[in-house]
Amino acid sequence: MFSNVIVRVPGKSLTEGISGADEGKPNYTKAIVQHENYINALTKTGVGVNVLPPMEDFPDSCFIEDNALCTSKCAIISRPGAQTRREEVQAKDLRPTLSKFYDNIEEITAPGTIEPGDIMMVGDHFYIGLSARTNAEGAHQMISILEKYGLSGETVEMKEMLHLKTGVNYLEHNNLLVAGEFKNDPRFDKFNKIEIPEDEAYAANCIWINDYVIVPAGYPKVKKAIEELGQYKVLEVDTSEYRKVDGGLSCLSLRF
Ligand code: GLY
Repeated sequence: MFSNVIVRVPGKSLTEGISGADEGKPNYTKAIVQHENYINALTKTGVGVNVLPPMEDFPDSCFIEDNALCTSKCAIISRPGAQTRREEVQAKDLRPTLSKFYDNIEEITAPGTIEPGDIMMVGDHFYIGLSARTNAEGAHQMISILEKYGLSGETVEMKEMLHLKTGVNYLEHNNLLVAGEFKNDPRFDKFNKIEIPEDEAYAANCIWINDYVIVPAGYPKVKKAIEELGQYKVLEVDTSEYRKVDGGLSCLSLRF
């Protein structure tokens, strides 16, 4: 059960966000409308939405998921692996906002790097992808912090995806969306795996919030597969402009 989310409005500099997508630059006006629709969908799920202002110096800062891991016991401020994102976590409003909800705030320190887009929560256990953004030291620090609070974590080797949650996302009720390199990972065999077809791979990144699953608009096979589970109210939000800079639904919020 989540009660709160934190989002950050994209700045005009979103157009300069890191991208491997080869889909052109985001249209800022459209991105803002999509962000408003995202906030509206989050509000519908019943959570309180905390909206932080844009940070023009950081093109990728609307992808606030990568700035902290918010658990049931503590928040852990990350240390992003992407050089242009490293200082996002120094934002004046990040720690004070987390402090409204958490007495315990921890931090990842150098030489560790970790972006929580690489972290998938399943109850009290956290899967941590070792990606180009998250190194073994960052994962090790994260697992030590989790264990201090009675939580646990394990690392997942990665080869292709940007972030772990680019390709695998937990929807509670034992349901797991899996795409690409994660489809045959035996560690996920215990879940009810919903395999994402190659042509809708982007939609592996859906988010569960309470009774709802938010799905990116334009991926009918994934939407149908989730609806057919019969356990969720499904909402769609268009994220086309964020896809152009390698961002998805989960990247755009902290949920706790
Ligand atoms: N553009 C999103 C990221 O690279 O983290």
